[in-house]
Amino acid sequence: MDKIKIDNNVFIPMPMSILGVRINSKENYMAVGWISRVNANPPMIAMGIGNHHFSLNGIKENKEFSVNFPAEDLLIATDYVGIYSGKKTDKSNVFKATYGELKNAPLIDECPLSLSCKLVEIINLPSNSIVIGEIREVFCNKAYYEDKNINFKAMKAFFLTMPDNKYWSFGHEIGKAWSDGKIL
Ligand SMILES: Cc1cc2nc3c(=O)[nH]c(=O)nc-3n(C[C@H](O)[C@H](O)[C@H](O)COP(=O)(O)O)c2cc1C
Repeated sequence: MDKIKIDNNVFIPMPMSILGVRINSKENYMAVGWISRVNANPPMIAMGIGNHHFSLNGIKENKEFSVNFPAEDLLIATDYVGIYSGKKTDKSNVFKATYGELKNAPLIDECPLSLSCKLVEIINLPSNSIVIGEIREVFCNKAYYEDKNINFKAMKAFFLTMPDNKYWSFGHEIGKAWSDGKIL
């Protein structure tokens, strides 16, 4: 094994998303890289949200939120809502909001893929809160939806690496999951 011990504050590339909430009758958005699917049925996601972020108040207040996956053309707007806090900056007009059944889950019109989520649970960790939500509705730009599959490459979803704080585009298809392993 040719490994060296490195700083423990690392992870592999993460999908970039934008959390959408409503606070004080307005939309607020924040960039989120720490997000994953965590339950199969019903479908649930979890995010690690900083305990002091303004958006967390909206989730606690309304028990609803949206998760939006931006394309590369929204990189600057995504970064912007990841730099400035709704505590001091009104970010409600950065994106155009539409709504599905959940009226406190603003779906970002400019994002090709958006999820409406109902809060399931918040788990408190020392610096972040694990926000678990059930995906209630999913809205996908029809240009990227073919045969019940999403074409993420065409959609131009992008990724984050830390601690170098860089954004990366989607790569190439290299195999078939739940299939290629059978060759062994
Ligand atoms: C690329 C990027 C990814 C981020 N990912 C997260 C994250 O996963 N969790 C988190 O708590 N903050 C994350 N942030 C920081 C928040 O988006 C940022 O502090 C934001 O201003 C909080 O907004 P709010 O106070 O209006 O809620 C990220 C910021 C950037 C630029």
